[in-house]
Amino acid sequence: MTCRPGRHARATAPDAVRARNLPALRGEAGVPAPHQERTVDKSKIPADQAEALGALMDDHRAVKKQFKAFKDTEDRDEKESIALDVCHQLTVHATIEEEIFYPALRGVSEEIDDMLDEAQVEHQVAKDLIAAIEEDPAGDMLEANFTVLSEYVSHHVEEEEGELFKNVIKEKVELRDVAQTMAARKEELMRETA
Ligand SMILES: [Fe+2]
Ligand SMILES: [Fe+2]
Repeated sequence: MTCRPGRHARATAPDAVRARNLPALRGEAGVPAPHQERTVDKSKIPADQAEALGALMDDHRAVKKQFKAFKDTEDRDEKESIALDVCHQLTVHATIEEEIFYPALRGVSEEIDDMLDEAQVEHQVAKDLIAAIEEDPAGDMLEANFTVLSEYVSHHVEEEEGELFKNVIKEKVELRDVAQTMAARKEELMRETA
């Protein structure tokens, strides 16, 4: 039987990464994505975790705004400048998570450890895309690389906030000192890489 490409053919696309993430990637900024209801309500985070998780959520919101700005402009120079700024912000954010936030959560529960393993793999994919963008920001592949980066990061953010952060709150992980260390490191990294 001949199988014509149609609506269902897209769900079996060979690119495993994109196929796996597609259901979570379709929410436009400002329009609820299927998983958005899983996101933590920032105003209800307990005091022990509020500063650390709140700071990371602020970073997430800032890059998501930039993703939309990139999509909304036709100006090539503006796209390039937004893309480079996002790459910088994401690199600082990922460094803070990898150096301070994720290690502080290691060993809290098996579930959290599994989420951290997955998050680290996702960071690596994002880093590869960031490297490609930074290497040739004026190139023809900017639009494609940045679009995939924005989809990928949006998915990662949904998992972080909707699964990891929720578990951190459930396990009552004390993050007050971690928040201080993260803030100081962020300041340092922003200064060093400005
Ligand atoms: Fe994050
Ligand atoms: Fe992350």
